Amino acid sequence: MELQQQRVVVIGGTSGIGLAVSRAAIGAGAEVVIASGRQASVDAALTQLGTNASGQAVDVLDPSDVAAFFDSLAGVDHLVYTAGDALSLMAINDLALRLARSFFEVRYFGALNCIHAALPQLRAGGSVTLTSGSAAERPGPGWALAASVCGAMNSLTKALAVELAPIRVNAVAPGVVRSPLWSQLSESDRDAMYNQVGQSLPVGRVGGVDDIAQAYLYCMTQGYGTGTVIEVDGGALLV
Ligand SMILES: NC(=O)c1ccc[n+]([C@@H]2O[C@H](COP(=O)([O-])OP(=O)(O)OC[C@H]3O[C@@H](n4cnc5c(N)ncnc54)[C@H](OP(=O)(O)O)[C@@H]3O)[C@@H](O)[C@H]2O)c1
Repeated sequence: MELQQQRVVVIGGTSGIGLAVSRAAIGAGAEVVIASGRQASVDAALTQLGTNASGQAVDVLDPSDVAAFFDSLAGVDHLVYTAGDALSLMAINDLALRLARSFFEVRYFGALNCIHAALPQLRAGGSVTLTSGSAAERPGPGWALAASVCGAMNSLTKALAVELAPIRVNAVAPGVVRSPLWSQLSESDRDAMYNQVGQSLPVGRVGGVDDIAQAYLYCMTQGYGTGTVIEVDGGALLV
């Protein structure tokens, strides 16, 4: 029980990767606090997570909402940030500047806002684990913005590892993962995408959220790595 008597806050803990991290952290003995944008998704996730979890809706882009959320917690051992909204690819030929800027809102500025508000609560020996993506290192056509957000998260991770030391700051960079993030695709398009990507990977399949959650657990429980970005992508960077 490596996280026994530790409080883990998972922003984005109501769905996909964040929900899997919350489950895994509870399995390792933690008390988990989840937050995301919609109260309905918080309530649904809490029903699944059981009595070692609590949570509330938080607008990650509202500094006073985020500050009130962290002020209500008496200490945080580990902050995990997995919040991200639906991602549409945008070819540079089709650039819509306002939409392009919005790609950074929840993933990058939301993370900054949460880290800023969490700092006074972070206990000695604590950690922050952020979310990037393999697109930073291996973008395809149409991925310029998504790749840029991931690149920004990688740089933020390294810069904060220096600035916030001895608090450790790391990031997990998933490849394609089966999760509700892709629910804007029709079921048949989604399955076709999972199959096509999976067949192209050395491991022969796309990832599941539990595959990825293990990397976040590692970031919380190990005590030496900081400023690292852990790629968990089925070998996508190699092919
Ligand atoms: N799935 C993949 O293939 C993949 C690959 C690489 C990287 N990633 C990255 O990993 C992260 C998590 O992805 P996922 O697959 O777990 O997605 P997901 O299942 O859609 O979960 C996203 C989470 O973010 C929350 N969220 C969205 N907008 C929010 C807002 N404005 N304020 C607060 N919370 C908000 C959602 O809750 P509410 O709806 O309640 O707000 C939900 O809990 C994302 O940044 C994604 O880009 C995913």
